[in-house]
Amino acid sequence: MRLSLSVSVASNPAHQRSDVRFLSQPANSLRPRVSKNTVNCKASSWRSQRQAEVRCRFQQNGHSVLADTSGDTKVHLDDDKFSWERNWYPVAILADVDGSKPIPVTLLGKKLVLWQGSDGEWNCVVDRCAHRYAPLSEGRVKDGDIQCAYHGWQYNGQGQCTRIPQAEDASACCSSSACVEAFPVQLRAGAVWVWPDSSPSAARDSSLVLPSVDTVLEESLEYVDWYIRDFYYGYAGLMEMLLDPSACSFTLHGIGLFNRHVPIPMDQGKPMPSTLTECKTEGRSAVISMECARAFRPAGHPYDATVTFNSPCHITHDFVGANGHVIHGMYILPVSPGRSRLFYWHKAGSPGGAALDRLKALKAPFGAGKAQLQHLVAAAEKFFVAKERSKRHMYLHPIFEAVGGLLHGQEHNVSAAGSQAGFHLPSSADVLVKKFYGWLLGSAGGGPSWPPGTPPLPPPTTDREALLGRRQQHVANCPSCQTMLAVNGYMRVAATIWNVLLVFGTALFVLNGGGPWYEAVGVVALWYWSTKWFTKTVEWPKQLGFVDYVHADRN
Ligand code: FES
Repeated sequence: MRLSLSVSVASNPAHQRSDVRFLSQPANSLRPRVSKNTVNCKASSWRSQRQAEVRCRFQQNGHSVLADTSGDTKVHLDDDKFSWERNWYPVAILADVDGSKPIPVTLLGKKLVLWQGSDGEWNCVVDRCAHRYAPLSEGRVKDGDIQCAYHGWQYNGQGQCTRIPQAEDASACCSSSACVEAFPVQLRAGAVWVWPDSSPSAARDSSLVLPSVDTVLEESLEYVDWYIRDFYYGYAGLMEMLLDPSACSFTLHGIGLFNRHVPIPMDQGKPMPSTLTECKTEGRSAVISMECARAFRPAGHPYDATVTFNSPCHITHDFVGANGHVIHGMYILPVSPGRSRLFYWHKAGSPGGAALDRLKALKAPFGAGKAQLQHLVAAAEKFFVAKERSKRHMYLHPIFEAVGGLLHGQEHNVSAAGSQAGFHLPSSADVLVKKFYGWLLGSAGGGPSWPPGTPPLPPPTTDREALLGRRQQHVANCPSCQTMLAVNGYMRVAATIWNVLLVFGTALFVLNGGGPWYEAVGVVALWYWSTKWFTKTVEWPKQLGFVDYVHADRN
């Protein structure tokens, strides 16, 4: 692949500045500068601004041409082939991970490990020690490097071996055989992004492309809630389902999509006129956008939907209705054959809810000198943030469980048929799905490319817990839900102690001949409240375990 660069100097001074910014980006660094999109997209409304942003992103993501809107600066990569590896993928949410410990990640069938060096930079190398192939993610971070837990070899962020404790000759570290593959990393929109290509041109290529990020996500980071979930089916099915608003009346029947108290009724399954508003496949990457009138009518209030796909993994849903404007986005990671991971974001309210807002108002009078009180308040803040977030996740779980069995079965039916080419798509509601498969089958090799030796699609399962279990698919990666599980453990102990004390108290009360009627009423009320508390505390963890979703039971 050869890089050719053509630059024309614009007469407009604004365009000249744009050129300078572009050319000043690092051309040969493993860590591209984290920068916002500086292209000036003029737009008269929020929606048109977002669409203009989409066009800019397309130009930056398309591997054949990168240009600002003036067209003054262009970078041509002669190799036009779409490559799954030559894209940015979000692999971790910064607020959810501790970079002082190795973080294993699987992306496009590659086992990788992330960590944060002592300089604060994030690093990503292949999760396999050069010595005897032990996983580095089982090791530790030492002096900013990652250390294999087997014999102590250490690697820096460039994949170079920095220490072999047993080596008689220190130069043993310098051998290329002692190195491991390293991958470009950058931080953006509160996430760690990896470019899963370790070829010699990876640093240069990755520095020329920005991650695909919605403007509203970057502008509202403080109020954005991320939800991560691993699925028991692959990339294509999940992507197809999320591009298709017409499925919601049936898959999400009975679930409140925008308002948990207003479920979607099934009678919305009717013709849904849909129009492609943007379809570009330049450079074998794609941006496809569809508008769908009256996609949902919760409580009789119609919402128009705009669904946008940015290849290879980014989807944005933009719903506008008389009752408001809802926007959320998703990144679908191809993990391995038959496995995918979702990064879903939506704009939530105050991170800790009304309770935290009240607590913050109380916090000021404590003053900086009251360290213990400040610690207490900080712990309470952490609790309220975790509680609110876990509550929101509880509401999201069934939305994704509703399709668990469907998409797992569909994937195996497609596998038996050979491909999706035989799908029958007669209505305009399928127009975006049709275009997506046009891109996937025509430009992207039919699906994610896996490294040699990747195990094939695992056989289908009838184990519903494996298909839908929240504990392994979500809680394992969500510190907020883990916090709430831990808090629940303490609550159960407290509820048990309280109930034992109540039994003794009641016995003493009866043995002493009881008391006036109002004391007896008080004891009964205590029993009622305590039993409710105990039952709720004991039952709650089941909500973070396995909750089956059977469509036939939801008529
Ligand atoms: S296998 Fe990693 S140091 Fe030996």
